[in-house]
Amino acid sequence: MTSTLLTGIGELTTNAPGVGTLADAALVMDAGRVAWVGPAVSAPDADEVVDADGRAVVPGFVDSHSHLVFAGDRAGEFAARMAGTPYAAGGIRATVAATRAATDEQLAANLARLVAEMRRQGTTTVEVKSGYGLTVADEARSLTIARQVTDETTFLGAHVVPAEFSDDPAGYVDLVTGPMLAAAAPHARWIDAFCETGAFDADQARAVLAAGAAAGLGGRLHANQLGPGPGVALACELGLAAVDHCTYLTDADVDALAASGTVATLLPGVEFSTRQPYPDARRLLDAGVHVALASDCNPGSCYTSSVPLCIALAVREMGMTPTEALLAATAGGARALRREDVGHLGVGARADVVLLDAPSHVHLAYRPGVPLVARTWVGGVGAR
Ligand code: NIG
Ligand code: FE
Repeated sequence: MTSTLLTGIGELTTNAPGVGTLADAALVMDAGRVAWVGPAVSAPDADEVVDADGRAVVPGFVDSHSHLVFAGDRAGEFAARMAGTPYAAGGIRATVAATRAATDEQLAANLARLVAEMRRQGTTTVEVKSGYGLTVADEARSLTIARQVTDETTFLGAHVVPAEFSDDPAGYVDLVTGPMLAAAAPHARWIDAFCETGAFDADQARAVLAAGAAAGLGGRLHANQLGPGPGVALACELGLAAVDHCTYLTDADVDALAASGTVATLLPGVEFSTRQPYPDARRLLDAGVHVALASDCNPGSCYTSSVPLCIALAVREMGMTPTEALLAATAGGARALRREDVGHLGVGARADVVLLDAPSHVHLAYRPGVPLVARTWVGGVGAR
């Protein structure tokens, strides 16, 4: 593999302790890793040289929450929502029906399309959940397909109770924690549940997470999205890697997050697409909570694959500075996935690098909707 010197960087955000942000910088990628960072004037030689021409370089975005294995879309539901119909978890069942009816090839092609879309927008690590199959076979195949594009796969059999179990939710939890988990676990790194009115209550979510932990899966949770609830407290009690949405929080929830190592993952594309209030990132940051930003790309509550859009929303609507929002979308996402090799550009990190068509990372929020990603490298391998 050839080494690459990226030089002429006007602003290099490394997120690396002791390095921080450098002006007039350079970075060397070698054997898939960041091999050197420092002032451009003292950069070592490499096989290939790329001139950033004064533009900004940031770590690749770590999108720690998405649902990309599905078929169909729910544009009609979105249009109805914009005309006043509220978002409800029940819409998930429409995507479940379409996903079950799709072939493996159709699901894989749709997934590849969305991952390519993300990559063009600077995402270099993506977590992908199942959760639109909700049978033993359909959850296992969703994870098998997801595994072809990422190691960060999450079993979300506890997304909603499918129609055929409407009269027997306890039976469905038994299926999820038994045969479905057994079929899913070999293909998954994480387990997740939707702990919300209309989906699963705290006891059901606890049972699912405990079964997942016993099968060797790390835990994460959807919680406090549609209203206040017990999910955030449960996630903190269990020491999960992350609890996601966190839109409706009590002071006790914020205190529990601050006292735990659990990352609060905020998903502002959801509030944009559902017209719900945005989560208060400022309150969380001021309390010392670790915050991540992610897309939650899915056909129902939020059909954007754009982390830059999420950064812009977090800055405009949630009280984050552009620097905090970039950190949350990179190092924050990495923390939410318990990864130390991504989310920063310190020496030794995976060479996941984004060159922006802008002089500063601030432009990610300052120029919303503008495609600012000029070039990305994943593991040192470049694509335009
Ligand atoms: O994260 N909240 C639960 N799951 C998704 C929505 C899925 C859907 O509406 O299809 C979410 O928002
Ligand atoms: Fe989600």
